[in-house]
Amino acid sequence: MFTKQTIRDIDLHSKTVLLRADFNVPIKDGKIEDDYRITQAMPTINYLLEQNTRLIIMSHLGRPKSPDDADCSLWPVAKRLGEILGKDRVSFAKDCIGPEAERAAEQLEHGKVLLLENVRYHAEEEKNSAEFAKQLASLAELFVEDGFGVVHRAHASTEGVAHYLPSVAGFLLEKEVDTITNVMQNPKRPLVAVIGGAKISDKIDILNKFIDLADVVAVGGAMANTFLYAQGIEVGDSLIEKQDVQVAKDIIEKAKAKSQQQDFVFYLPQDGVVAHKVDKTAPTRIVDWSAHVIADIENYPKRPPIGDTRIKEHEMILDIGPFSASFIAGSLQLAQTVVWNGSMGVAETPAVHGPVGPTAHGTELVIEAIIGQYGHKPFSVVGGGDTVSYIENRKMTELFNHVSTGGGASLELMAGKKLPGVEALLDKKSEVVQ
Ligand code: 3PG
Repeated sequence: MFTKQTIRDIDLHSKTVLLRADFNVPIKDGKIEDDYRITQAMPTINYLLEQNTRLIIMSHLGRPKSPDDADCSLWPVAKRLGEILGKDRVSFAKDCIGPEAERAAEQLEHGKVLLLENVRYHAEEEKNSAEFAKQLASLAELFVEDGFGVVHRAHASTEGVAHYLPSVAGFLLEKEVDTITNVMQNPKRPLVAVIGGAKISDKIDILNKFIDLADVVAVGGAMANTFLYAQGIEVGDSLIEKQDVQVAKDIIEKAKAKSQQQDFVFYLPQDGVVAHKVDKTAPTRIVDWSAHVIADIENYPKRPPIGDTRIKEHEMILDIGPFSASFIAGSLQLAQTVVWNGSMGVAETPAVHGPVGPTAHGTELVIEAIIGQYGHKPFSVVGGGDTVSYIENRKMTELFNHVSTGGGASLELMAGKKLPGVEALLDKKSEVVQ
């Protein structure tokens, strides 16, 4: 249960409210490529406007090196908010503190929105400077935290500001924390975790957590390469993290120990799609390094040619193969709950024809299994970042139970870490028993 006060718990009527959203959205040539984080913020924004507040919104975008980094301006987000709420209801201040912000805040009318420019244009933001946080806080009477994607950062606009204003959560933050915490604390079993993406180093904590918690942990994406390498499989030019080979070995040992004690599967890919380069036209082939029974059958009565089971010197694993994808999809047919984070291969390479790129088939098969295309639909939680952009672009977001707006934040919450931007909020009042 969410233990912090929310916008339902306090009187907001006609107040000046400072809202921290996470509008860190992908923008190319001034155009927003995926506005999921904006649409997910709308229930809170609409509610606050219905309360006739004067609504000041702040966010970061990207990691600007200096205030001149125009690619990190939130102006395209202001335009998008104008399209959603009506142009006359949204204004934009070119700075988040100082005279420009103060003037715009003073002029803001009730029932309208002022979006402040990127808080990260000030180096004080990431340093969690008290002075900077005070300046932000001085613009309003109340602080609402709703940028779930950034609450794992103790920055001035996420944590510092809460020391200077009464601070509560918005609906998105409440929903994210509630759903993810429930799945981690009280999952309907079997629980299957499908973990992919590029780097083991980003996922060590949740891999360990899911080995403790889940019934099946399936690993895909480039991070699987380091596990394969740790097991002595030749991976050619595949992306691996040599410094994490020992970490991979330790995780494999931990998983083995659990499966000796109880029903538990730690699944590493048995086959993969390989190519010489990451390119939509590069020829691909399937390599079956486990030389399992299907390869035997296909080549019956001979053994499969040796090349079918080995990755060549300059080849790279770019996706899980059909056998591995089917295995994971099969295990999802038995799951009641699935947590999925990270694609199974290089899913962003565009296709020559149709919507699915040459190394996105593993990811697609996993998606189909999760959303019930094979007859059974487990409760699904999808954890942030690139995975979400992929399913947003495929217009499939609605088909999952919960698609998190957080990347790092959802991983840290799943791993059981405290989130500074949540900790700083007011606790729910304990119910008085009459
Ligand atoms: C994210 O995209 O994960 C959040 O917006 C946080 O961004 P950051 O990793 O740059 O702090």
